Amino acid sequence: ARPGDLAGKRVVVTAGGTREPLDPVRFLGNRSSGKQGAAIAAAAAARGASVTLIAANLETRTPAGCGVVPVSTTAELRAAVLDAAEGADLVVMAAAVADFRPADVSEGKIKKDDSGSGLTLELVRNPDILAELGQRPHAGTTLVGFAAETEPDDERLLELGRDKRRRKGADFLVVNRVGWNDGFAADENRIVVVGPDDAVVDRAHGDKLSVAHRILDAVLADRR
Ligand code: C5P
Repeated sequence: ARPGDLAGKRVVVTAGGTREPLDPVRFLGNRSSGKQGAAIAAAAAARGASVTLIAANLETRTPAGCGVVPVSTTAELRAAVLDAAEGADLVVMAAAVADFRPADVSEGKIKKDDSGSGLTLELVRNPDILAELGQRPHAGTTLVGFAAETEPDDERLLELGRDKRRRKGADFLVVNRVGWNDGFAADENRIVVVGPDDAVVDRAHGDKLSVAHRILDAVLADRR
């Protein structure tokens, strides 16, 4: 972490988790708190970058010194990030983006009936925003993706990260293990950063702000 080493750079960070409405009062969501993404935005701002934080339902405060774009659904996050990523130096996709959304959003609240029968929801795939960014021309923009996986085996976890980086066309992929007790709401994180040639460029463990600085260090070191 070097003060001012991102001066003059434009950084876009997505954080939190998207929510997909089912009806006016319900949604499908995930347990991402947005803490790691918010910490990356704060770290980049502290290092002098001009930061846009695209914030999806954060359960943490937005850091000072960042431009904040609040979003909720995947469609909103997509529109915001495609717009902000244009000409950015660094885009970090830390948000947990819903892979599926309900095929139909009910106009009124979905009711249960008296028969006691269950309810079947039909879901459709959401667009993969990181893959979209990876596929379109992005010379001069470093793309960083995240992989939150429950895979218990370290080697297999790393393989998942490598596959994901290639599949999505990201330059770096930050892998972390999540589970019922790890990752999301916690104040600490343990990560592995996979670089452009599939090598492990860093492993870090600690509070989410120091992990954020280590991710930025890894990305900057590789660009020089
Ligand atoms: O495929 P998976 O969801 O594990 O990929 C995680 C990475 O891809 C994260 O960086 C996340 O922000 C991004 N993502 C996305 N659009 C989706 C799903 C994930 O940009 N629909």
